[in-house]
Amino acid sequence: MTFDEIIQRRLDRRQLLRGGLVTAGVTLFRSLGCPRIVAAAGGLLGFDGVGISTADRVIVPRGYVADVLYAWGDPVSDGPAFRSDASNTSDEQAVQAGMHHDGIEYFALPANGASSTHGLLAINHEYTDDGLLHPGGMEPWTPEKVRKAQAAHGVSIVEVRLEDGRWRVVRPSVYARRVTAATPIRFTGPAAGHPLLRTTADSSGLVALGTLNNCAAGRTPWGTYLTCEENFNAYFVNRAQPVPAEQRRYGITDRGLGYRWHEHDERFDAARHPHEPNRFGWIVEIDPYEPGRGPVKHTALGRFKHENAAVTVAPDGRVVVYMGDDERFEHIYKFVSRGRFDRGNDSANRRLLEDGTLYAARFDAAGGGEWVELTQGRNGLDAAAGFATQAELLVNVRRAADFVEATKMDRPEWITVDPRTRDVYCTLTNNTSRGKDGQPGPNAANPRPDNVFGHIIRWRDGGGDPTATRFRWDVFVLCGDPTHVDAGKRGTIRGDVFGSPDGLWVDRRGVLWIETDVSTNVLNRDDYARLGNNQMLAADPTTREVRRFLTGPAGCEITGVTVTPDGTTMFVNIQHPGETASERSNPSAPTAVSAWPDGASGGRPRSATVVIRKVDGGVIGA
Ligand code: FEO
Ligand code: CA
Ligand code: CA
Repeated sequence: MTFDEIIQRRLDRRQLLRGGLVTAGVTLFRSLGCPRIVAAAGGLLGFDGVGISTADRVIVPRGYVADVLYAWGDPVSDGPAFRSDASNTSDEQAVQAGMHHDGIEYFALPANGASSTHGLLAINHEYTDDGLLHPGGMEPWTPEKVRKAQAAHGVSIVEVRLEDGRWRVVRPSVYARRVTAATPIRFTGPAAGHPLLRTTADSSGLVALGTLNNCAAGRTPWGTYLTCEENFNAYFVNRAQPVPAEQRRYGITDRGLGYRWHEHDERFDAARHPHEPNRFGWIVEIDPYEPGRGPVKHTALGRFKHENAAVTVAPDGRVVVYMGDDERFEHIYKFVSRGRFDRGNDSANRRLLEDGTLYAARFDAAGGGEWVELTQGRNGLDAAAGFATQAELLVNVRRAADFVEATKMDRPEWITVDPRTRDVYCTLTNNTSRGKDGQPGPNAANPRPDNVFGHIIRWRDGGGDPTATRFRWDVFVLCGDPTHVDAGKRGTIRGDVFGSPDGLWVDRRGVLWIETDVSTNVLNRDDYARLGNNQMLAADPTTREVRRFLTGPAGCEITGVTVTPDGTTMFVNIQHPGETASERSNPSAPTAVSAWPDGASGGRPRSATVVIRKVDGGVIGA
């Protein structure tokens, strides 16, 4: 039985009393004989913190080792090997690791087991650096390069095993597969088949082609992976003037972000195919254990720039998903399923994300807040307001959240639920635009006018019940140096300093892991001059102490994190080592910023999944 199952089984029996979750949880762990994952008396953080670094390597604490497991271009199974001159074809890329690893989850093998030595990793590939992806970069720009870029997006499922003290990818594997920007994906929920999802190529509006910009992730209690489509707008171009308001609301412009897919794949021309963008910006569910089962896009969870999906099960069995929309002045959402989780009944569980109630968060000034229902016909969300059906509301859910005056946040990134307390944490990575260009100024939940370093907010839904519509919140930490010369930028961190928090995950012991994404154009410069490369830290939610656990190579971002059920192996993703401010490397000098992990002879830096273990085989972080 896995740790999650242990917890869930107890929750199913409603043995966790409201208001006494911490105590109940600790007692529970002891009674089930899991001493290795119970918090040690005297503090959660049992490692020596590392200093900041600008070195081009991964640094972990004394007594730990970090090894590269699965890098861009590595075959998912027994397919073609990576060629360091980037000459792999699009067909080869479609069976190799994509670029820019992000969200990640470990699924034990066999399914429903708790193996910590054999499992599957589901890994997101968020976007591409086309300066590295092709020989000669983007010049000349060809249909083959568009196909290769699309094949380097999406998700990997790889089989992994611990043997002789070392993790390796199992090749060949019957589970191994890639999902790319060209994989057929069925829609579910209220917007499936709606005219807003119909296109020239798919008059049914039921099957999208591909998933894009897969940022962070989540996992369901029935053993599936949730991959979250974030900045999908970047791939579309609409040269019509003006760009329609519903496309502008999601950031579609007349030039995109330079991916140039529309030049050789006309579905990314949003003037010719105005509904194609509506088919992205969803949460996608993948069953890692069943390679023959196609992914699905769940429209009931709303269309926005999804960061991750933090799933928990309420005492009454309903499934709750917390979600952030990562853009300045966007919102925090939660979905509550109509049906109830039924352990073992996977065919029913798989439909839980197809039907439920969506809410957006309104934080009030006094530490309270409300989840405002986003249902057609409620809260003024009617035809007169432009929401004739629930499908229209879900496709344009940002506008619905605006309409009900949900709070505009400082870029909501990851959300995570502390399994012991039901406290929910959300990183608000930064926002330096408050009060500028007609934008709103600070509010209680986003208190800094010039939020260079970001903050982490925390809430607990009423009575610890995640289905409740009221909550209490506080600011867990304001990030940045507490001694910063500018009082407006001073943080409240106790311990090691950081800024621009992004990844956020509470492990089974209650440690809050924080990953940073300082933009390449300010990394080690300006306000970030003294904070070093992007990093991962651990925080104790009770004492609020923060300790730096890992620093990444030059120009990278630290993205996904997951551990084996016994807590002794951690998988962390290193995204875009060597990234330049333009996010596109110079193909003539691919290792100008970083040569990680292969070194200068390797030809180009590669995003990769790194395995972290303790030399003594103990629990990570303890
Ligand atoms: Fe893909 Fe918001 O980070
Ligand atoms: Ca992120
Ligand atoms: Ca990010």
